[in-house]
Amino acid sequence: MVHQRILALGFSAVVSMLATAGFAQDKPLLPFSAASTHLGVSSCGGSSCHGALEPWDGSTVLQNEFITWQEKDPHAKAYKTLQSEESKRIARNLGLPNAYEADMCLDCHADNVPTERRAKGFEIADGVGCESCHGGGERWLGIHVSGRADHAENLNAGLFPTENAEARARLCLSCHFGDKDRVITHRIMGAGHPRLAFELDTYTMTQPAHFALDADYVRRKGEMDHVKVWAIGQAVATESLLDAMLDPARNSDGIFPEFVFYDCHACHHPMSNVRWEPRETHGIGPGIPRLNDANLIMMAALLDQVDASLAAQVRDRTRQLHQASLKGHDATLEAAKTLRGLIEPLIARLNAWSPSRQDLRAMLSAVIARGLKGDYVDYSAAEQATMAMSAILDAMARAGAMSEQQHLDMVKVLDGAYAAILKDEEYNPRQFLAVLQDIEAAVPRS
Ligand code: HEC
Ligand code: HEC
Ligand code: HEC
Ligand code: HEC
Repeated sequence: MVHQRILALGFSAVVSMLATAGFAQDKPLLPFSAASTHLGVSSCGGSSCHGALEPWDGSTVLQNEFITWQEKDPHAKAYKTLQSEESKRIARNLGLPNAYEADMCLDCHADNVPTERRAKGFEIADGVGCESCHGGGERWLGIHVSGRADHAENLNAGLFPTENAEARARLCLSCHFGDKDRVITHRIMGAGHPRLAFELDTYTMTQPAHFALDADYVRRKGEMDHVKVWAIGQAVATESLLDAMLDPARNSDGIFPEFVFYDCHACHHPMSNVRWEPRETHGIGPGIPRLNDANLIMMAALLDQVDASLAAQVRDRTRQLHQASLKGHDATLEAAKTLRGLIEPLIARLNAWSPSRQDLRAMLSAVIARGLKGDYVDYSAAEQATMAMSAILDAMARAGAMSEQQHLDMVKVLDGAYAAILKDEEYNPRQFLAVLQDIEAAVPRS
């Protein structure tokens, strides 16, 4: 389920002083796969380290990250979840003795590094802890605590660059979609696992954030540009989907393709709620399961602003992928490969992109316009579009493209979109369309 953002988090008065800092390593290994030993959450959570009860005045970082994580962050209870009744049922359905000792579950619900990479204080029960995201502390903890190392030195010693949108997208999606090392299948969902949904910018801000995007953050790490983060998140999510489709170890289950890549609601919603409508972006008929193309739809909408001809190509290739899925496995792989070739070079372009206020405005209009054209008749696309609009509105507010009052007003109108996507199985595309019209009418024109 999607959580709405906390209002105006990190809002106002931050001027963009630096372009997003570039980092030496292009594709750093994820914390799970890198060589470092993991020391455990207890080595980060001391009261004079990141375990302060309240944020410290005058410190660059908040220092109460541990408390935020422990009290409010679902990652802290990810392991506990594996002991719940729900998990017991999933494990039973899958024929597992239990969920909390099964790698199939621990790989995403804990920092399940091999035992030789667990130091003495390491506890698997800590769930998705600091080092699951920030990297094993073996080499960086010492220099980091000494206070003498700067951020670049920490990164060289194995701190994972979570501030880098592309690296962060790969990190989060490795669990929130799965990757070659952590696989979630329709069988696991069929056993009772909830559907996975993800949008990098929204999820970064609702985790909840244990960092403040203040002037000091911007000075040290560059602006966290919500729209760029959203855009890069879409590109990496698209790539993750296509990679999974192209991976022979992950792309089929017996005679069937892997259903996890498909639109869940194409197969799962009450038959009494007849709601199928044609959609230009897939062009396939009723009664046929269709691939989940929500990220591809978003890619095309955002590319409308960056490169209109590329946007047209992505739409064209997306349709071809859908058509190919009717023809068979080999045709689908061919189409997925072609599409992946279009997406890959895009990430570097998005990294170098700095959207102007006009771009942001146009981007919001494009996302709304695509919906009015009928791109969001499927639930997953409406869900992505809602999170996209909220990321763009935050970016507009931070860039001074709307006043604080205008931002608050827009966030209120956007509540209608969140209400319309609250229950996925009851989603009504016509209701969502009506909300989009309200949003369109409310966008400040100056
Ligand atoms: C090691 C795997 C892993 C990684 C890496 C990871 N997550 Fe998660 N995340 C989870 C699991 C598992 C849950 C569900 C926890 C539970 O409820 O038991 C979760 C839950 C969440 C939720 C709450 C979702 C909801 O519907 O309530 C948010 C938000 C979130 N993660 C954001 C992120 C972001 C942002 C990143 C990257 C910076 C990230 N996660 C990286 C495994 C991971
Ligand atoms: C590819 C990573 C991945 C794997 C593998 C995985 N999970 Fe999850 N699981 C997640 C994420 C991410 C969430 C949070 C989903 C969200 O809310 O967006 C989650 C949520 C859940 C929830 C709901 C938690 C809540 O707070 O409502 C349960 C229960 C669960 N998982 C159990 C399991 C069990 C049992 C297994 C093993 C059979 C398993 N998971 C395997 C990533 C994974
Ligand atoms: C699910 C992933 C995830 C987990 C778990 C996590 N963090 Fe973070 N952390 C992030 C992200 C994303 C950011 C923001 C991007 C950045 O600045 O690196 C961040 C930022 C930070 C920052 C930098 C703030 C700044 O102003 O520069 C600190 C310090 C931090 N985290 C400490 C912790 C500690 C301590 C824990 C464990 C108690 C923890 N984190 C757990 C993802 C995570
Ligand atoms: C191509 C059609 C299709 C798609 C797409 C599909 N499923 Fe399924 N799903 C099925 C079938 C068939 C079953 C088995 C139903 C049964 O046993 O009654 C099933 C079973 C399930 C069940 C168990 C239902 C029960 O009654 O116990 C869950 C939960 C589930 N799917 C979730 C998902 C999620 C989440 C997605 C999207 C990621 C998804 N499904 C995509 C066809 C599909």
